[in-house]
Amino acid sequence: MYNFSAGPAQLPKEVLSRAKEDMLDWHGSGISVMEMPFSSDEYNEISDGAYNDLSKLINLPDDYHILFLQGGAYAHFALVAMNLMGKNAVADYVQTGHWSTRAINEAKRYGKVNIVASSENSGFNHIPDYNQWKIDPSAAYCHITTNETANGVQFHNIPDIHPAPLVADITSDFLTRQLDISQFGLVYASAQKNVGPTGLTIVIIHDNLLDQAMDIVPAVFNYGRQAKSRVNTPSTYSVYMAGLMFSWLLEQGGIEKIEQQNIIKAKSLYDVIDNDDFYLCTVNPADRSMANICFELTNPDLAEDFLDQAKENGLLNLKGHGVRGGIRASNYNAMPIEGVDSLIDFMQSYSSNMSQTKFSTG
Ligand SMILES: Cc1ncc(COP(=O)(O)O)c(C=O)c1O
Repeated sequence: MYNFSAGPAQLPKEVLSRAKEDMLDWHGSGISVMEMPFSSDEYNEISDGAYNDLSKLINLPDDYHILFLQGGAYAHFALVAMNLMGKNAVADYVQTGHWSTRAINEAKRYGKVNIVASSENSGFNHIPDYNQWKIDPSAAYCHITTNETANGVQFHNIPDIHPAPLVADITSDFLTRQLDISQFGLVYASAQKNVGPTGLTIVIIHDNLLDQAMDIVPAVFNYGRQAKSRVNTPSTYSVYMAGLMFSWLLEQGGIEKIEQQNIIKAKSLYDVIDNDDFYLCTVNPADRSMANICFELTNPDLAEDFLDQAKENGLLNLKGHGVRGGIRASNYNAMPIEGVDSLIDFMQSYSSNMSQTKFSTG
């Protein structure tokens, strides 16, 4: 079975097996990770290990903090605004798809949102040209969504924004490719794509943004407060699982290595789509996502049958996001090349069978 879900997503078998081994008794402690007090030495070892391995993976600069929070990226759409908008309460947002639109709608509750560029009129099929962005010099930050999970669009170059810090929702491409954290004031990501199961939201923040929160920000979601010391019980099991994922990723050779593999997998899928009239990808080739490959069947009436037959062939959760429909193959770190090869074999034989059926029935 290969699970192409956009999230919660497939996890590496090795990671699940390690979690299974530890389930009843973590490293001879006599208890499960789920039962540990969060202030215990054992849990601190788990949490510090996860922090250190993640710092290594992303080359964390010294003047940043990683926060292991909760709420999902959707909560942080609001929390980013509440923590960073400051006194002026103005921020710039780039609208590139379903998730950036959600981020905009949440931020609007707390201040003035300038939509500095949007691809809405063309069905979110590209990243707007940076040279045309209408940056407001009084904005507290400029927000982008590095990968639009529902629309299959991705920033392949991170723009150099001045003077406001760049803030990004990196939920669906976090750890799938190299990212220079120093280009950002803050990034945030839900865990359930490449970090582990749900329940954990990672925020990585530059130290000079830690004390701008509005008074109404709850203590548990005040980034500055959480950076000083843990305010409440963290999502301990999710942090443990994330730690297993980080050490698995280091064993794979780190992000540079996995990124090369992700590009090979994505390109081979796009090649099949582009070379067969049976399939169609409407995203501008230069802006196509390496993480979520969104496409259609040129005859959309066949989509349901395609999905049913894919499932019978062990290829699960290929249905596109509700707002867009069509097909979506999520190509996260845990998807092996064999999974993508199986999908390609299936797509080619499905297309050829259907074309023959059409031909023989006239
Ligand atoms: C890019 C992006 N941002 C935000 C979210 C919302 O995440 P959550 O449901 O964990 O709050 C998702 C969910 O898939 C996403 O893909």
